Amino acid sequence: MVTSGRMSPWCLLTLLTLVPLTLSSNAGVKVKLTQKGLEYARQIGMTTLQQKLKTIKVPDLSGTEKVAPIGKVKYTLSGMQITSLGLPKSQMGMVPGTGVSLAIGNAFLSLHGNWKVRYLHFIKDSGSFDLAVKDLTINTNIALKSDETGRPAVNTVSCTSNVGSASIKFHGGASWLYNLFSAYIDKALRSALQKQICPLVSDAISELNPHLKTLNVLAPVDKYAEIEYSMVASPVVSKAFVDFGLKGEFYNIGRHKEPPFSPPVFGLPPQVNNMLYIGVSSFTANSASFVYNNAGAFNLFITDDMIPPSSPIRLNTRTFGAFIPQLAKEYPGLMMKLLVKTTRQPIISFQVNNVTLQASGTVTAYAIQPNTTLAPLFILNMETSVSAHIYVTGVKLAGSVILNRMSMSLGASYVGPFQVKSLDNIFLMVLKVAVLPKINAHLQKGYPLPAIGKMSLVNTQLQVLKDYMLIGTDVSFRG
Ligand SMILES: *[C@@H]1O[C@H](CO)[C@@H](O)[C@H](O)[C@H]1NC(C)=O
Ligand SMILES: *[C@@H]1O[C@H](CO)[C@@H](O)[C@H](O)[C@H]1NC(C)=O
Repeated sequence: MVTSGRMSPWCLLTLLTLVPLTLSSNAGVKVKLTQKGLEYARQIGMTTLQQKLKTIKVPDLSGTEKVAPIGKVKYTLSGMQITSLGLPKSQMGMVPGTGVSLAIGNAFLSLHGNWKVRYLHFIKDSGSFDLAVKDLTINTNIALKSDETGRPAVNTVSCTSNVGSASIKFHGGASWLYNLFSAYIDKALRSALQKQICPLVSDAISELNPHLKTLNVLAPVDKYAEIEYSMVASPVVSKAFVDFGLKGEFYNIGRHKEPPFSPPVFGLPPQVNNMLYIGVSSFTANSASFVYNNAGAFNLFITDDMIPPSSPIRLNTRTFGAFIPQLAKEYPGLMMKLLVKTTRQPIISFQVNNVTLQASGTVTAYAIQPNTTLAPLFILNMETSVSAHIYVTGVKLAGSVILNRMSMSLGASYVGPFQVKSLDNIFLMVLKVAVLPKINAHLQKGYPLPAIGKMSLVNTQLQVLKDYMLIGTDVSFRG
């Protein structure tokens, strides 16, 4: 029979109909930003904005005004520089469907510059001036979206600024002139300032994007795995929250194969005490299990040197021979080796306050012959259930497991019949001293959570709920 390497069109069609299923855009990880989180963003943002606005460069202004009774006066204002600027009052809010709003009120600034006038064709006068602006207001709406790489992006959708009252003080020159003149200059300066503010605010907002782009959309874990945290859709903004849906899926490094299951439908409770709530679903955990299982990371050789020296139970044919007479006879005085393998991916389930991992596998026992060849002795089927304790450390999730129960049945024996039950204590010991510590050492290293820049987590709690873990946390970008 000849088998063709080409796929039949029929087969391709079947595959194509499967695509929408496997490309399911359900989020494996959900993040909720609260008003408290927005408030922290405002505090950080205002420092940046204040610095930005201090860089306002007011271009030189010149013009001609008719001033009674002297006639045309030509004026020039130059060398204007901001001497102080304050943004004492600001507020950020959610704009459902769009993003967030930023309202700044009572802002003030003062500016120093030089003035020069010419009138009656030949009279020149000059000096300096100080302008003080009070009641400056800025109102802006900022859209929050997902960019083409699944990272958050912001842009200004509207901005208005209004310069409330301004007062100007001239130094040098003739005072009668100022009185005639200040109204014109005041107006020209206000409109010049007003023109500068919104573009600078808009710039400051755009400058957030490089920071937002540091979201770890592909977070490296270890030599086997990476986690994808790209956003599956643009954030959803409601009255009190911004909700982000992230993929939250483990992949084998460089080989992105979808698992045969998809994220559960879950929603985060409307809690408000922390800045952020992160929901990590059982899908994310099971995608990890899928990846490590595919990579063969759950297959483990166990040798006697992995058993503590203090243990009376050794991995040799003497220990096992006590329960399997034929083994003692056929392979006397040999060391043994066990191969533990999963037969399918371990299943992780989240119930309230309980994370359980259920694994099915086999244990193959070998005698190590004098010429180092392995002689298979028997194969046992093993079902184990472990409970996990999960915690947050740094910006990572870590854990440890303890054994709930284990059961074994005979798969095959090459050394005659024996009571599998009689080996229970030996294998319980092997699990406890050789297998679980390996798993725990790995779990302890942790798995990165979604993060932006040099974010650290504070006031963090973790709760296990049905189908997901809820992490409530504040964040800090200081040090
Ligand atoms: C968690 O659930 C598993 C399976 O339902 C159970 O065996 C285990 O005892 C539970 N653990 C706790 C701490 O409730
Ligand atoms: C190793 O020794 C065993 C038992 O004596 C024998 O059956 C086997 O063929 C040997 N293997 C090699 C590679 O020499």
